[in-house]
Amino acid sequence: MGSMGRIWPAALLLMFVGLQHSSCFWVINVMFPPPIKPTIPNNSTPPLVIVPGNLGNRLEAKIDKPTLVHWLCFKKTPHWFPLWIDLNMFMPVGVDCWIDNIRLVYNRTTRRSSNSPGVQVRVPGFGETYTIEFLDNNKLAGYFHTMVEHLVSVGYSRNGTIRGAPYDWRVAPNENEEYLVKLRELVEDMYKQYQKPVYLLGHSMGCHYVLYFLNQQPQAWKDRFIKGFISLGAPWGGAVKALRVMASGNNDGIPMLSNVKIREEQRMITTNPWMLPFDEFWPKEHVLVSTPTANYTTQDYERFFTDINFENGWHMWLDTKNLTGDLHPPGVEVWCMYGVGLPTPVTYIYDEGFPNADPVDFVYADGDDTVDSFSTSLCKRWIGKQSKPVHVTEFQGLMHLDMVYHEKVLNLIQYILEGKSETPSEIDVRVSQTRNLLQ
Ligand SMILES: *[C@@H]1O[C@H](CO)[C@@H](O)[C@H](O)[C@H]1NC(C)=O
Ligand SMILES: *[C@@H]1O[C@H](CO)[C@@H](O)[C@H](O)[C@H]1NC(C)=O
Ligand SMILES: *[C@@H]1O[C@H](CO)[C@@H](O)[C@H](O)[C@H]1NC(C)=O
Ligand SMILES: *[C@@H]1O[C@H](CO)[C@@H](O)[C@H](O)[C@H]1NC(C)=O
Ligand SMILES: *[C@@H]1O[C@H](CO)[C@@H](O)[C@H](O)[C@H]1NC(C)=O
Repeated sequence: MGSMGRIWPAALLLMFVGLQHSSCFWVINVMFPPPIKPTIPNNSTPPLVIVPGNLGNRLEAKIDKPTLVHWLCFKKTPHWFPLWIDLNMFMPVGVDCWIDNIRLVYNRTTRRSSNSPGVQVRVPGFGETYTIEFLDNNKLAGYFHTMVEHLVSVGYSRNGTIRGAPYDWRVAPNENEEYLVKLRELVEDMYKQYQKPVYLLGHSMGCHYVLYFLNQQPQAWKDRFIKGFISLGAPWGGAVKALRVMASGNNDGIPMLSNVKIREEQRMITTNPWMLPFDEFWPKEHVLVSTPTANYTTQDYERFFTDINFENGWHMWLDTKNLTGDLHPPGVEVWCMYGVGLPTPVTYIYDEGFPNADPVDFVYADGDDTVDSFSTSLCKRWIGKQSKPVHVTEFQGLMHLDMVYHEKVLNLIQYILEGKSETPSEIDVRVSQTRNLLQ
């Protein structure tokens, strides 16, 4: 019985994990790496800053609310408490309380989002790694933990040569100006402390944050402070999945939470419209969503948002579409890595239940099972468009999920950080150890 008590929350979390990764392109890894041999931190390793993906770092809240969605919800808390991840969201009433705490209120006039009335939200642990290693205090929901452990085993130090740059992933960079200033200061501090330019590593949507950040900096600043940009599983041309998430929601099979319920939360977040397939790159005739009454392409977003009864989404898309929508080259050396070789939906087909029921069919193309490779491979456009090299590595058979902890990815990252910049164009993760290029 004692062990059941421990397993049950973990099982809940696992289901929940399935829910989140697919809706928002991130990963939770509950597989623990083997214990590492203790190493003496080596300050001559080049410093590294990690920018996590959507939902990829903790958030905390403090509330004093004027009204409640349910009498069982807390009205006021004296202390900051975990908002993400908060296990209460699994309770039938808990999910309503949670949505009412985490939601944003979008104002079409100011074109800004604000917290739910009476809710303060903060991002803990900027410059440290704990907030991206595990998303909960009980260390059940692991994210960058495996990668950080791996790097510590080769001489990196937590909060020292390896640091996290968490942010409020509910909003896009146009509403996160302060974060971009803090990120620049973090890079400059690490440069001063270790006397070496810094590597930036992004995952999924975090890569768009990094690209936006780099596009804002003068070239001289980048030449001085940035050694390179490692991008993992970035949806460079957006993600078709964002349409499904906003139309019908996506809980990926969690029994306690309906798709339409989780959709309430998913529609509050301006980063979902930002990640719609970028109209500049997608073929104009490609149907992303098909219903009995309409076919929606990248040219039909306004109608799409009207038809799903989420008109703010259209305004959020207008606000965010230019942030990284032209994929302006980052101006630093790039290592772009992503999974390929797996069937990935590129069209969602609905019946009359649209948008309040799940899609009934899918059209698939090549991808990493979450993002198609048309989108992830768009970083190839930078080859020859900037003076710094662009290296692309495709991982055959690697799921979007596995990008931040697969051994072959971690080995390649280590290899890059050791200063060996030439990387293979393809690594097969399906076959075991045929040709071990990176040991
Ligand atoms: C620290 O790392 C540098 C560069 O990677 C290496 O040359 C040096 O031998 C390492 N020192 C120790 C004590 O491991
Ligand atoms: C939006 O912001 C404007 C300007 O600050 C304000 O006048 C208006 O009341 C706000 N709208 C809502 C719905 O809060
Ligand atoms: C990093 O910072 C966190 C929070 O301040 C702390 O709990 C942790 O022990 C630190 N880790 C190291 C290795 O200093
Ligand atoms: C959507 O596209 C499909 C395939 O081209 C076509 O058969 C169908 O009639 C179109 N539906 C609408 C409502 O235009
Ligand atoms: C985005 O770019 C387009 C075309 O360059 C421009 O017309 C539009 O005003 C821009 N939108 C924003 C919000 O800056």
